[in-house]
Amino acid sequence: MEATDRINTLLVGAGGREHALALALSQSPRLGTLHISNPENPGLASLGTPVDVPVSKAEIYRLNQYCDKHNIGLVILGPEGPIADGFTDALATDIRLVFAPNAAAARLESDKAWAKQLMRSASIPTAEARVFSRFDRAMDYLQSRDEAPVIKAAGLAAGKGVVLPDSLEAGIEFLRACMEDGRFGDAGRTVLIEERLEGPEVSIHALVDGRNMYILETAQDYKRIGDNDTGPNTGGMGACSPNIHIDERAMETIQREILVPTIDALRREGIDYRGVLYTGLMLTPAGPKVLEYNVRFGDPECQAILARLRTDLIDMCIATCTGRLNSVDIDFSPEPSCCVVLASEGYPESPNIGQPISGIDEAQALQNVQVLHAGTRRDDSGGYITASGRVLNVVATGSTRQDARDLAYHAAKAISFPGMKYRTDIGS
Ligand code: AMP
Ligand code: GLY
Repeated sequence: MEATDRINTLLVGAGGREHALALALSQSPRLGTLHISNPENPGLASLGTPVDVPVSKAEIYRLNQYCDKHNIGLVILGPEGPIADGFTDALATDIRLVFAPNAAAARLESDKAWAKQLMRSASIPTAEARVFSRFDRAMDYLQSRDEAPVIKAAGLAAGKGVVLPDSLEAGIEFLRACMEDGRFGDAGRTVLIEERLEGPEVSIHALVDGRNMYILETAQDYKRIGDNDTGPNTGGMGACSPNIHIDERAMETIQREILVPTIDALRREGIDYRGVLYTGLMLTPAGPKVLEYNVRFGDPECQAILARLRTDLIDMCIATCTGRLNSVDIDFSPEPSCCVVLASEGYPESPNIGQPISGIDEAQALQNVQVLHAGTRRDDSGGYITASGRVLNVVATGSTRQDARDLAYHAAKAISFPGMKYRTDIGS
Protein backbone atom coordinates (compact mmCIF):
# COMPACT_ATOMS: atom_id res chain seq x y z
CA MET A 1 0.00 0.00 0.00
CA GLU A 2 1.54 3.31 -1.02
CA ALA A 3 1.33 6.16 1.46
CA THR A 4 -0.65 8.17 -1.08
CA ASP A 5 -3.30 5.57 -1.92
CA ARG A 6 -6.82 6.14 -0.83
CA ILE A 7 -8.12 3.40 1.41
CA ASN A 8 -11.68 2.20 1.65
CA THR A 9 -12.31 1.78 5.35
CA LEU A 10 -14.88 -0.12 7.37
CA LEU A 11 -15.71 1.18 10.85
CA VAL A 12 -17.51 -1.23 13.21
CA GLY A 13 -19.41 0.15 16.19
CA ALA A 14 -22.45 2.22 17.04
CA GLY A 15 -21.71 4.90 19.62
CA GLY A 16 -20.07 8.24 20.34
CA ARG A 17 -16.59 6.74 20.23
CA GLU A 18 -17.26 5.52 16.70
CA HIS A 19 -18.74 8.86 15.66
CA ALA A 20 -15.50 10.50 16.84
CA LEU A 21 -13.45 7.93 14.90
CA ALA A 22 -15.59 8.46 11.80
CA LEU A 23 -15.08 12.22 12.00
CA ALA A 24 -11.31 11.83 12.29
CA LEU A 25 -11.36 9.41 9.34
CA SER A 26 -13.43 11.79 7.26
CA GLN A 27 -10.75 14.45 7.76
CA SER A 28 -8.06 12.19 6.31
CA PRO A 29 -7.02 12.84 2.70
CA ARG A 30 -6.24 9.14 2.56
CA LEU A 31 -9.84 8.03 3.11
CA GLY A 32 -11.55 6.36 0.15
CA THR A 33 -15.11 5.32 0.92
CA LEU A 34 -16.05 5.03 4.58
CA HIS A 35 -18.31 2.04 5.29
CA ILE A 36 -20.16 1.86 8.58
CA SER A 37 -21.79 -1.01 10.45
CA ASN A 38 -24.39 1.05 12.33
CA PRO A 39 -26.28 3.58 10.20
CA GLU A 40 -29.05 3.87 12.81
CA ASN A 41 -26.66 6.30 14.51
CA PRO A 42 -27.38 9.55 12.59
CA GLY A 43 -23.85 10.85 13.18
CA LEU A 44 -22.36 7.78 11.52
CA ALA A 45 -25.02 7.76 8.80
CA SER A 46 -24.02 11.29 7.81
CA LEU A 47 -20.41 10.21 7.22
CA GLY A 48 -20.50 6.70 5.78
CA THR A 49 -22.10 4.09 3.56
CA PRO A 50 -24.08 1.46 5.46
CA VAL A 51 -22.91 -2.14 5.28
CA ASP A 52 -25.72 -4.20 3.73
CA VAL A 53 -24.87 -7.58 5.28
CA PRO A 54 -25.19 -8.79 8.88
CA VAL A 55 -22.34 -7.77 11.15
CA SER A 56 -22.10 -10.81 13.40
CA LYS A 57 -19.73 -13.51 14.46
CA ALA A 58 -22.05 -16.22 13.14
CA GLU A 59 -22.08 -14.75 9.65
CA ILE A 60 -18.64 -13.21 9.58
CA TYR A 61 -18.03 -14.74 6.13
CA ARG A 62 -20.65 -12.35 4.76
CA LEU A 63 -18.82 -9.35 6.16
CA ASN A 64 -15.65 -10.78 4.70
CA GLN A 65 -17.30 -11.04 1.27
CA TYR A 66 -18.55 -7.48 1.66
CA CYS A 67 -15.00 -6.28 2.39
CA ASP A 68 -13.69 -8.13 -0.67
CA LYS A 69 -16.42 -6.75 -2.89
CA HIS A 70 -15.86 -3.16 -1.79
CA ASN A 71 -12.09 -3.40 -1.81
CA ILE A 72 -11.79 -2.48 1.86
CA GLY A 73 -8.17 -2.09 2.91
CA LEU A 74 -8.64 -1.09 6.54
CA VAL A 75 -11.13 -2.21 9.18
CA ILE A 76 -11.39 -0.38 12.51
CA LEU A 77 -13.15 -2.17 15.35
CA GLY A 78 -14.48 0.21 18.02
CA PRO A 79 -16.09 -1.92 20.73
CA GLU A 80 -14.76 -4.94 22.61
CA GLY A 81 -17.49 -7.37 21.48
CA PRO A 82 -16.35 -7.85 17.87
CA ILE A 83 -12.71 -7.86 19.01
CA ALA A 84 -13.34 -10.64 21.54
CA ASP A 85 -15.38 -12.44 18.86
CA GLY A 86 -12.32 -12.65 16.65
CA PHE A 87 -13.32 -10.23 13.89
CA THR A 88 -9.64 -9.27 13.56
CA ASP A 89 -8.56 -12.83 12.86
CA ALA A 90 -11.49 -13.34 10.48
CA LEU A 91 -11.18 -10.15 8.44
CA ALA A 92 -7.43 -9.54 8.17
CA THR A 93 -5.82 -10.65 4.89
CA ASP A 94 -2.58 -9.93 3.05
CA ILE A 95 -4.20 -6.83 1.60
CA ARG A 96 -6.55 -5.84 4.41
CA LEU A 97 -5.46 -4.50 7.78
CA VAL A 98 -7.58 -4.63 10.91
CA PHE A 99 -6.95 -2.03 13.58
CA ALA A 100 -7.71 -4.06 16.72
CA PRO A 101 -5.99 -6.88 18.59
CA ASN A 102 -6.68 -10.51 17.69
CA ALA A 103 -8.91 -12.79 19.76
CA ALA A 104 -6.02 -14.23 21.77
CA ALA A 105 -4.97 -10.73 22.81
CA ALA A 106 -8.57 -9.72 23.53
CA ARG A 107 -8.57 -12.08 26.52
CA LEU A 108 -6.88 -9.25 28.41
CA GLU A 109 -10.31 -7.64 28.51
CA SER A 110 -12.70 -10.55 27.98
CA ASP A 111 -11.23 -12.80 30.67
CA LYS A 112 -10.29 -10.89 33.80
CA ALA A 113 -9.18 -14.10 35.54
CA TRP A 114 -6.66 -14.76 32.77
CA ALA A 115 -5.53 -11.13 32.81
CA LYS A 116 -4.96 -11.31 36.57
CA GLN A 117 -2.89 -14.47 36.11
CA LEU A 118 -0.83 -12.78 33.41
CA MET A 119 -0.18 -9.80 35.69
CA ARG A 120 0.85 -12.09 38.53
CA SER A 121 3.24 -14.03 36.32
CA ALA A 122 4.95 -10.79 35.33
CA SER A 123 4.84 -9.16 38.79
CA ILE A 124 2.74 -6.29 37.44
CA PRO A 125 1.26 -4.27 40.33
CA THR A 126 -2.48 -4.88 40.56
CA ALA A 127 -5.17 -5.35 43.19
CA GLU A 128 -4.93 -8.70 44.99
CA ALA A 129 -7.71 -10.96 43.82
CA ARG A 130 -9.06 -14.46 44.08
CA VAL A 131 -10.95 -16.20 41.33
CA PHE A 132 -14.02 -18.35 41.96
CA SER A 133 -16.24 -20.46 39.78
CA ARG A 134 -18.16 -22.09 42.64
CA PHE A 135 -20.78 -19.99 44.39
CA ASP A 136 -20.38 -21.64 47.83
CA ARG A 137 -16.62 -21.06 47.82
CA ALA A 138 -17.03 -17.44 46.73
CA MET A 139 -19.61 -16.88 49.51
CA ASP A 140 -17.34 -18.43 52.16
CA TYR A 141 -14.47 -16.25 51.07
CA LEU A 142 -16.56 -13.10 50.94
CA GLN A 143 -17.90 -13.74 54.44
CA SER A 144 -14.43 -14.41 55.82
CA ARG A 145 -13.02 -11.08 54.65
CA ASP A 146 -12.75 -8.07 56.92
CA GLU A 147 -12.19 -5.49 54.24
CA ALA A 148 -14.58 -4.07 51.70
CA PRO A 149 -14.11 -5.94 48.41
CA VAL A 150 -14.68 -5.29 44.75
CA ILE A 151 -16.52 -8.07 42.92
CA LYS A 152 -16.13 -8.54 39.17
CA ALA A 153 -17.65 -10.83 36.62
CA ALA A 154 -14.68 -12.36 34.78
CA GLY A 155 -16.15 -11.96 31.29
CA LEU A 156 -17.57 -9.11 29.21
CA ALA A 157 -20.60 -7.53 30.87
CA ALA A 158 -21.09 -4.26 28.99
CA GLY A 159 -19.62 -2.17 31.80
CA LYS A 160 -22.04 -3.60 34.40
CA GLY A 161 -19.93 -6.44 35.71
CA VAL A 162 -18.11 -4.64 38.55
CA VAL A 163 -19.55 -3.69 41.94
CA LEU A 164 -18.13 -2.06 45.02
CA PRO A 165 -20.75 -3.41 47.45
CA ASP A 166 -21.53 -1.25 50.47
CA SER A 167 -22.57 -4.21 52.61
CA LEU A 168 -22.01 -7.95 52.85
CA GLU A 169 -25.61 -8.49 51.77
CA ALA A 170 -25.10 -6.42 48.62
CA GLY A 171 -21.99 -8.43 47.84
CA ILE A 172 -23.80 -11.73 48.30
CA GLU A 173 -26.65 -10.53 46.14
CA PHE A 174 -24.27 -9.66 43.31
CA LEU A 175 -22.44 -12.98 43.62
CA ARG A 176 -25.75 -14.81 43.42
CA ALA A 177 -26.91 -12.77 40.42
CA CYS A 178 -23.68 -13.57 38.59
CA MET A 179 -23.01 -17.15 39.56
CA GLU A 180 -26.46 -18.62 40.19
CA ASP A 181 -28.94 -16.50 38.28
CA GLY A 182 -26.79 -15.99 35.19
CA ARG A 183 -27.24 -12.22 35.00
CA PHE A 184 -24.31 -11.99 32.56
CA GLY A 185 -24.61 -15.49 31.14
CA ASP A 186 -21.31 -17.34 31.00
CA ALA A 187 -19.46 -14.06 31.46
CA GLY A 188 -20.49 -14.01 35.14
CA ARG A 189 -20.10 -17.70 36.07
CA THR A 190 -16.54 -16.97 37.16
CA VAL A 191 -15.94 -14.00 39.45
CA LEU A 192 -13.01 -12.19 40.99
CA ILE A 193 -13.17 -10.96 44.56
CA GLU A 194 -10.64 -8.24 44.77
CA GLU A 195 -8.93 -5.91 47.20
CA ARG A 196 -10.43 -2.41 47.05
CA LEU A 197 -7.87 0.20 46.09
CA GLU A 198 -7.98 3.92 46.82
CA GLY A 199 -6.65 6.85 44.88
CA PRO A 200 -7.19 8.86 41.73
CA GLU A 201 -8.00 6.80 38.68
CA VAL A 202 -6.23 7.24 35.37
CA SER A 203 -6.61 5.50 32.06
CA ILE A 204 -3.63 5.24 29.77
CA HIS A 205 -4.16 4.60 26.09
CA ALA A 206 -1.19 3.23 24.21
CA LEU A 207 -0.80 2.13 20.62
CA VAL A 208 1.04 -1.16 20.37
CA ASP A 209 2.40 -2.45 17.07
CA GLY A 210 3.60 -5.86 18.21
CA ARG A 211 6.88 -4.50 19.50
CA ASN A 212 6.80 -0.74 19.92
CA MET A 213 4.47 1.26 22.04
CA TYR A 214 3.33 4.86 21.78
CA ILE A 215 1.52 6.38 24.73
CA LEU A 216 -1.27 8.68 23.61
CA GLU A 217 -2.29 11.87 25.38
CA THR A 218 -3.86 11.08 28.73
CA ALA A 219 -7.53 11.38 29.57
CA GLN A 220 -9.60 11.30 32.70
CA ASP A 221 -12.84 9.36 32.69
CA TYR A 222 -15.73 10.20 35.02
CA LYS A 223 -17.36 6.85 35.73
CA ARG A 224 -19.95 7.59 38.41
CA ILE A 225 -23.33 8.99 37.49
CA GLY A 226 -23.29 11.89 39.95
CA ASP A 227 -21.19 14.96 40.61
CA ASN A 228 -18.22 14.45 42.94
CA ASP A 229 -18.12 10.77 42.01
CA THR A 230 -21.35 9.76 43.67
CA GLY A 231 -23.90 7.12 42.72
CA PRO A 232 -23.50 4.01 40.58
CA ASN A 233 -20.86 3.35 37.94
CA THR A 234 -21.74 4.07 34.34
CA GLY A 235 -20.02 3.56 31.00
CA GLY A 236 -18.58 7.05 31.51
CA MET A 237 -20.26 10.42 32.03
CA GLY A 238 -17.51 12.54 30.60
CA ALA A 239 -13.82 12.83 29.95
CA CYS A 240 -11.17 15.46 29.71
CA SER A 241 -7.70 15.44 28.25
CA PRO A 242 -5.05 15.75 29.55
CA ASN A 243 -5.50 14.00 32.87
CA ILE A 244 -4.04 16.37 35.46
CA HIS A 245 -3.55 13.62 38.04
CA ILE A 246 -0.67 12.18 36.15
CA ASP A 247 2.75 13.75 35.90
CA GLU A 248 5.83 12.70 33.97
CA ARG A 249 7.28 10.72 36.85
CA ALA A 250 4.13 8.70 37.37
CA MET A 251 3.98 8.08 33.64
CA GLU A 252 7.54 6.78 33.60
CA THR A 253 6.76 4.42 36.45
CA ILE A 254 3.63 3.21 34.67
CA GLN A 255 5.50 2.63 31.46
CA ARG A 256 8.40 0.81 33.13
CA GLU A 257 6.51 -1.24 35.72
CA ILE A 258 3.23 -1.86 33.95
CA LEU A 259 3.00 -1.22 30.22
CA VAL A 260 6.29 -2.67 29.01
CA PRO A 261 5.99 -5.76 31.26
CA THR A 262 2.44 -6.27 29.94
CA ILE A 263 3.59 -6.38 26.32
CA ASP A 264 6.52 -8.62 27.30
CA ALA A 265 4.21 -10.97 29.18
CA LEU A 266 1.91 -11.16 26.17
CA ARG A 267 4.84 -11.97 23.91
CA ARG A 268 5.88 -14.77 26.24
CA GLU A 269 2.38 -16.16 25.77
CA GLY A 270 2.96 -16.01 22.02
CA ILE A 271 0.59 -13.06 21.61
CA ASP A 272 1.42 -10.37 19.08
CA TYR A 273 -0.55 -7.37 20.35
CA ARG A 274 -1.47 -4.78 17.76
CA GLY A 275 -3.97 -2.07 18.44
CA VAL A 276 -4.99 0.15 21.33
CA LEU A 277 -4.12 -1.03 24.81
CA TYR A 278 -6.12 0.85 27.40
CA THR A 279 -4.92 0.30 30.94
CA GLY A 280 -7.14 1.45 33.80
CA LEU A 281 -5.06 2.26 36.87
CA MET A 282 -5.37 3.58 40.35
CA LEU A 283 -2.61 5.80 41.71
CA THR A 284 -2.47 4.29 45.18
CA PRO A 285 -0.19 5.45 48.00
CA ALA A 286 1.92 2.35 47.18
CA GLY A 287 2.23 3.33 43.52
CA PRO A 288 0.15 2.79 40.39
CA LYS A 289 -1.78 -0.48 40.19
CA VAL A 290 -3.80 -1.98 37.37
CA LEU A 291 -7.58 -2.16 37.71
CA GLU A 292 -8.27 -3.53 34.27
CA TYR A 293 -7.15 -3.75 30.70
CA ASN A 294 -9.27 -2.92 27.70
CA VAL A 295 -8.30 -3.81 24.16
CA ARG A 296 -9.86 -0.72 22.53
CA PHE A 297 -10.35 2.97 23.04
CA GLY A 298 -12.38 4.00 26.07
CA ASP A 299 -15.70 5.67 25.48
CA PRO A 300 -15.82 8.68 26.13
CA GLU A 301 -12.03 9.01 26.59
CA CYS A 302 -11.58 8.44 22.85
CA GLN A 303 -13.74 11.48 22.09
CA ALA A 304 -11.58 13.71 24.31
CA ILE A 305 -8.30 12.30 22.95
CA LEU A 306 -9.23 12.43 19.26
CA ALA A 307 -10.37 16.05 19.65
CA ARG A 308 -6.68 16.82 20.15
CA LEU A 309 -5.15 14.47 17.57
CA ARG A 310 -3.40 16.22 14.68
CA THR A 311 -1.92 13.14 13.02
CA ASP A 312 -3.83 11.47 10.23
CA LEU A 313 -5.82 8.68 11.89
CA ILE A 314 -5.42 6.38 8.89
CA ASP A 315 -1.62 6.72 8.97
CA MET A 316 -1.69 6.03 12.70
CA CYS A 317 -3.82 2.90 12.28
CA ILE A 318 -1.73 1.53 9.41
CA ALA A 319 1.53 2.10 11.26
CA THR A 320 0.11 0.25 14.27
CA CYS A 321 -1.12 -2.69 12.22
CA THR A 322 2.11 -3.07 10.25
CA GLY A 323 4.60 -2.81 13.12
CA ARG A 324 5.86 0.59 11.98
CA LEU A 325 4.79 2.89 14.81
CA ASN A 326 8.32 4.32 14.74
CA SER A 327 7.70 5.66 11.27
CA VAL A 328 4.85 8.06 12.11
CA ASP A 329 5.01 11.33 13.89
CA ILE A 330 2.11 11.29 16.30
CA ASP A 331 1.16 14.79 17.24
CA PHE A 332 -1.46 16.34 19.51
CA SER A 333 -2.71 19.84 19.97
CA PRO A 334 -1.60 21.30 23.31
CA GLU A 335 -5.13 22.65 23.79
CA PRO A 336 -7.10 20.69 26.39
CA SER A 337 -10.41 19.07 25.57
CA CYS A 338 -13.53 18.36 27.55
CA CYS A 339 -16.32 15.90 26.70
CA VAL A 340 -19.64 16.05 28.52
CA VAL A 341 -22.05 13.14 28.17
CA LEU A 342 -25.73 14.01 27.99
CA ALA A 343 -27.65 11.07 29.41
CA SER A 344 -31.24 9.92 29.64
CA GLU A 345 -33.37 10.05 32.73
CA GLY A 346 -33.03 6.73 34.58
CA TYR A 347 -29.53 5.99 33.26
CA PRO A 348 -27.72 3.72 34.11
CA GLU A 349 -30.43 1.46 35.56
CA SER A 350 -33.33 1.94 33.16
CA PRO A 351 -32.98 4.81 30.73
CA ASN A 352 -36.15 6.41 29.50
CA ILE A 353 -35.76 6.67 25.72
CA GLY A 354 -37.69 7.97 22.72
CA GLN A 355 -37.61 11.61 23.83
CA PRO A 356 -37.37 14.41 21.25
CA ILE A 357 -34.07 16.30 21.25
CA SER A 358 -33.68 19.96 20.36
CA GLY A 359 -30.71 22.26 19.97
CA ILE A 360 -28.15 19.94 18.36
CA ASP A 361 -27.61 22.24 15.37
CA GLU A 362 -27.25 25.31 17.59
CA ALA A 363 -24.62 23.59 19.73
CA GLN A 364 -22.84 22.23 16.67
CA ALA A 365 -22.65 25.71 15.14
CA LEU A 366 -20.34 26.89 17.93
CA GLN A 367 -16.67 27.07 17.07
CA ASN A 368 -14.40 24.39 18.59
CA VAL A 369 -17.41 22.28 19.53
CA GLN A 370 -18.34 18.87 18.23
CA VAL A 371 -21.63 17.21 19.04
CA LEU A 372 -21.25 13.45 18.74
CA HIS A 373 -24.14 11.02 18.53
CA ALA A 374 -23.91 8.22 21.08
CA GLY A 375 -27.51 7.02 21.36
CA THR A 376 -29.87 8.96 19.12
CA ARG A 377 -32.18 8.09 16.22
CA ARG A 378 -34.01 10.01 13.52
CA ASP A 379 -37.78 9.94 13.99
CA ASP A 380 -40.29 9.82 11.11
CA SER A 381 -40.25 13.59 10.65
CA GLY A 382 -36.44 13.75 10.49
CA GLY A 383 -35.93 15.08 14.02
CA TYR A 384 -33.68 13.48 16.61
CA ILE A 385 -34.89 11.34 19.50
CA THR A 386 -33.06 9.65 22.35
CA ALA A 387 -32.33 5.95 21.87
CA SER A 388 -30.20 4.83 24.82
CA GLY A 389 -28.71 5.82 28.15
CA ARG A 390 -25.84 7.89 26.83
CA VAL A 391 -27.36 10.12 24.18
CA LEU A 392 -24.91 12.79 23.02
CA ASN A 393 -21.31 13.76 23.69
CA VAL A 394 -20.51 17.44 23.62
CA VAL A 395 -16.80 17.86 23.00
CA ALA A 396 -15.00 21.20 23.15
CA THR A 397 -11.42 22.35 23.01
CA GLY A 398 -10.03 25.57 24.45
CA SER A 399 -6.78 27.31 25.18
CA THR A 400 -7.07 26.29 28.83
CA ARG A 401 -8.78 23.46 30.62
CA GLN A 402 -11.26 25.94 32.02
CA ASP A 403 -12.02 27.35 28.56
CA ALA A 404 -12.63 23.89 27.15
CA ARG A 405 -14.89 23.08 30.05
CA ASP A 406 -16.83 26.35 29.89
CA LEU A 407 -17.37 25.93 26.15
CA ALA A 408 -18.51 22.31 26.47
CA TYR A 409 -21.08 23.31 29.11
CA HIS A 410 -22.15 26.35 27.13
CA ALA A 411 -22.84 24.08 24.16
CA ALA A 412 -24.52 21.44 26.31
CA LYS A 413 -26.97 24.06 27.58
CA ALA A 414 -28.14 24.69 24.01
CA ILE A 415 -29.37 21.08 23.83
CA SER A 416 -32.38 19.73 25.61
CA PHE A 417 -34.63 16.70 25.86
CA PRO A 418 -37.05 15.62 28.58
CA GLY A 419 -35.16 14.10 31.51
CA MET A 420 -31.72 15.11 30.15
CA LYS A 421 -29.02 14.87 32.78
CA TYR A 422 -25.30 15.43 32.89
CA ARG A 423 -22.54 15.87 35.41
CA THR A 424 -21.60 19.46 36.08
CA ASP A 425 -18.05 18.76 37.27
CA ILE A 426 -16.35 17.32 34.18
CA GLY A 427 -12.90 18.85 33.92
CA SER A 428 -13.26 20.89 37.11
P1 AMP B 1 -13.21 -2.06 35.75
O1 AMP B 1 -14.26 -2.37 34.72
O2 AMP B 1 -12.45 -3.26 36.24
O3 AMP B 1 -12.35 -0.88 35.42
O4 AMP B 1 -14.04 -1.50 36.98
C1 AMP B 1 -14.90 -0.42 36.85
C2 AMP B 1 -14.60 0.57 37.92
O5 AMP B 1 -14.70 -0.01 39.20
C3 AMP B 1 -13.19 1.13 37.85
O6 AMP B 1 -13.09 2.17 36.94
C4 AMP B 1 -12.99 1.60 39.28
O7 AMP B 1 -13.61 2.85 39.51
C5 AMP B 1 -13.73 0.55 40.05
N1 AMP B 1 -12.79 -0.52 40.47
C6 AMP B 1 -12.46 -1.62 39.79
N2 AMP B 1 -11.57 -2.36 40.47
C7 AMP B 1 -11.33 -1.71 41.61
C8 AMP B 1 -10.50 -1.96 42.75
N3 AMP B 1 -9.76 -3.05 42.84
N4 AMP B 1 -10.51 -1.06 43.73
C9 AMP B 1 -11.28 0.04 43.67
N5 AMP B 1 -12.09 0.34 42.64
C10 AMP B 1 -12.12 -0.52 41.62
N1 GLY C 1 -15.01 4.68 29.71
C1 GLY C 1 -14.67 3.37 30.10
C2 GLY C 1 -14.61 2.37 29.05
O1 GLY C 1 -14.77 2.65 27.88
O2 GLY C 1 -14.42 1.21 29.36
